Amino acid sequence: MPKITVAEHAGACYGVQRALDLVQKVAREATGAIHTLGPLIHNPQVVEDLAAEGVTVVSDVPAEPGSTLVLRTHGVVPQVEKTARERGLHVVDATCPYVKRVHHAAERLQQEGYQVLVVGEAGHPEVEAILGHAPGARAVSCAAELDGIELGRRVGVVVQTTQAKPTLDAVVSELMARAGEVCVINTICEATSERQKAARELAASSDVMVVIGGRNSANTTRLATICSASCERTHHIETCDELEASWFAGAEHVGVTAGASTPTAQIDELVASIESLCTSLA
Ligand code: F3S
Repeated sequence: MPKITVAEHAGACYGVQRALDLVQKVAREATGAIHTLGPLIHNPQVVEDLAAEGVTVVSDVPAEPGSTLVLRTHGVVPQVEKTARERGLHVVDATCPYVKRVHHAAERLQQEGYQVLVVGEAGHPEVEAILGHAPGARAVSCAAELDGIELGRRVGVVVQTTQAKPTLDAVVSELMARAGEVCVINTICEATSERQKAARELAASSDVMVVIGGRNSANTTRLATICSASCERTHHIETCDELEASWFAGAEHVGVTAGASTPTAQIDELVASIESLCTSLA
């Protein structure tokens, strides 16, 4: 039987766990319909489980007075929350507090007269929400994109929570050469880098790595890529049904990790399933 190790940092981050707890509490207590504005997290199994509890996904604010609308961890532009309240919906704000911190930082920089830049992926819901809190702000995903922006003298910078620090450093270093004053509020959340570092270290000492999480989850896919770089036998799965006994043949050490949108229960189930498959091989 191989040794199975779960990465030191793996699975649901603080914001995702908080959102899940909030929506489960609402599902137990609310009397009317419950909707999440977009999938609560990038994890199809969790979204299916929530649907079984009566929580449905909507793509726009519904006109259903008395129903409950859960805002997901990425946050929303202020207008969305305003519209929901005007339509008589109960709003449950599951925006991650670390994402809220970015909204506040962008607002503050703008109030102080800075031209606000958001280092992040344009079009990503989190970035769109940040831009909505600082109208006129621009998103840049890399230093080269600064070429398309007319910069003022005073530039304020905030960052999408899941960005890599070297990307921020490159943008800031370029800004220092171009703007008179640069004020940077580093709003990167450590949950992502902690998971990546732990996955990299575990993969280096594992014969097989299994990464569990949604294929539509960017941070889970990134973990799988990182693990593949040092462990050729890396597998990215969404559910334990996808496991194959042959993956573990001859392995002495199996590593397990999961993206920030994977609840702990799914990691526990994965470990139990690997144990059972390895027992069948013995
Ligand atoms: Fe929040 Fe960081 Fe998770 S911003 S949603 S705790 S990755």
